[in-house]
Amino acid sequence: MKTVANSLVKGNDTEGVVNVLIRVDFNAPLFENGEIADDLRIRASLPTLQLLLKNDNVKRIILISHLGRPEGQENPKFSLQKVAERLQDLLKTKVAFLPLPRPGEKLDFPKDTKVVLLENLRFDPGEEKNDMDFAKNLVAATGANVFIQDGFAVIHRAHASTDAIAKLLPTYAGLLLEKEISNLSKVLKSPEHPVVMIIGGAKVEDKQPLIDKFVNIADHILVGGKIAADGYKSDSSKIIVASDFDEDAEGNKLDIGPVSTAEFAKYIDGAKTIIWNGCLGKVEDPAFATASSIIADLIGKKSDATTVICGGDTTGFVENYLKDHPDLHYSLISTGGGATLEFLLGKDLPGLKSVGF
Ligand code: 3PG
Repeated sequence: MKTVANSLVKGNDTEGVVNVLIRVDFNAPLFENGEIADDLRIRASLPTLQLLLKNDNVKRIILISHLGRPEGQENPKFSLQKVAERLQDLLKTKVAFLPLPRPGEKLDFPKDTKVVLLENLRFDPGEEKNDMDFAKNLVAATGANVFIQDGFAVIHRAHASTDAIAKLLPTYAGLLLEKEISNLSKVLKSPEHPVVMIIGGAKVEDKQPLIDKFVNIADHILVGGKIAADGYKSDSSKIIVASDFDEDAEGNKLDIGPVSTAEFAKYIDGAKTIIWNGCLGKVEDPAFATASSIIADLIGKKSDATTVICGGDTTGFVENYLKDHPDLHYSLISTGGGATLEFLLGKDLPGLKSVGF
């Protein structure tokens, strides 16, 4: 894989002044009022940006992303304006926010600003159509001479900013992409055993492909959440389904109980690789977040294992838990939703071809 760390920054491929175009995934969940509900993906982009900001060869850093599904139409509800503001706060560097360039337009960058975020790529139908003219226009308008793919969460899409654009410029993987791929590849191809997968969540149809894949990789698969409460069954001796539950006043099973939590904890204690996808209870209600909190705590204290947290509900829960428990550490809190799942299922991902993976 051609990475930004080993190529661009050491100057192996480029000489002189560099305008870097970076595909990030700033598709952050928003509240009803348009405020950012979870900035994991914005924070996850910082290491690459900080590395580039330190590099004197880099004249300008131009970020491109999508947000939501505006279906090729300009729509203020899906503007990246708020993301630009949050990025500026996190990066502690001025970030200019500019509209997408019209065909043939050359963007006028503010002189005093090194970092620029363009408006939502999906305001133009060319993005999702993987339109080469749209990609060419982005390159010409920004004067970019290097492309970095760091939008791990969107690499399962063959869009102009993940596929076409990489055919136009020397392309590198950013630090986030590198971190995601190296951890997920390790889990998939050369995990240290025992491997323990923890599965939770509500929909069995979403989780079954992952269980089917990992039954050949993991030593134990621990099943909790609504799936277990609804009576998930398996003939495999590797699959351990929670057997006791905490209930609400109406008798709904909303969290796995203390016996199952203690049993899961024993497997986690001995594991060298842990993948957690899906909360174990209805964590929106603190009364039913006990098992997930105990498991988040145990995993976060394991310094002798590769630990991967994935799936939007689980990463959101763990991120929140970390706010009160900053001493915990996970090898990877994956920023991908569909991308992580497809990677773990061994599918071909268009956005990875361009970086030689
Ligand atoms: C995601 O949130 O999984 C990515 O940003 C991709 O978004 P999409 O499913 O709208 O293509």
